[in-house]
Amino acid sequence: MKVLLIGDIVGNIGVKKVKEVLPKIKKEENIDFIIANAENSAEGMGITANIYKDLVALGINVITMGNHTWGKKDIFNIIENKNLIRPANYPKGVLGNGYGIYECNNKKIAVIDLIGRVDMNVLSENPFLVADEIIEKIKSNVDIIIVEFHAEATAEKIAMSYFLDGKANLVYGTHTHIQTADEKITEKGMAYITDIGMTGPSKSVIGMDVDASIKRFLTSLPERYKVSDDKNTFMDCAIVEFDDENCRAKEITRIKL
Ligand code: FE2
Repeated sequence: MKVLLIGDIVGNIGVKKVKEVLPKIKKEENIDFIIANAENSAEGMGITANIYKDLVALGINVITMGNHTWGKKDIFNIIENKNLIRPANYPKGVLGNGYGIYECNNKKIAVIDLIGRVDMNVLSENPFLVADEIIEKIKSNVDIIIVEFHAEATAEKIAMSYFLDGKANLVYGTHTHIQTADEKITEKGMAYITDIGMTGPSKSVIGMDVDASIKRFLTSLPERYKVSDDKNTFMDCAIVEFDDENCRAKEITRIKL
């Protein structure tokens, strides 16, 4: 079983890049299941129903969100769809689903989305406790447990990886938009990488226009962020292969396309 993880898709330019490269890598690598973070896909903040439809049409099985979940009102038209998940550690009663269980090659795959609490500016519940609670509830029912941790702090993500080692089959980070070089397989058969990176414009400050970003830092004034229009683009992703017999993670490979 091969799972492809696509790093935070930024703007229309990022969606376009996914359309260009996904069919090829999916075929070449015999990908079975695809998860993509799309919380920045609509002009850098949020997602729209049209983008959601485009991504699903490309064969993406699960779309994850993060701190920009509510960036576009249009999300309320798709928030209850089973293949779109938002952080599970929002307060109880919030719209949408924090995890989903999906069928693939006769295996049941659970995908859980969590948001960090360090430097995230989101009033969320404790992601460690929520992860534990969900895994306890579903573990006897599923074959593979995948956790996306949308978080800023490297330490919080690494701590989560040790906390879930032996409980989840794959833990990976999103949100910083920079791919990290620390991918590994643990002795307990869990794959981990601190951040899978982003999909979008090359000349940018994590996807955003360079001049607008520098102006913010120079003046401390609230310059409006806009997605960089650099035509050179890349797609950061990672492929994780699981053993078909025991579902342990066998290999994790990070890629920049
Ligand atoms: Fe984010």
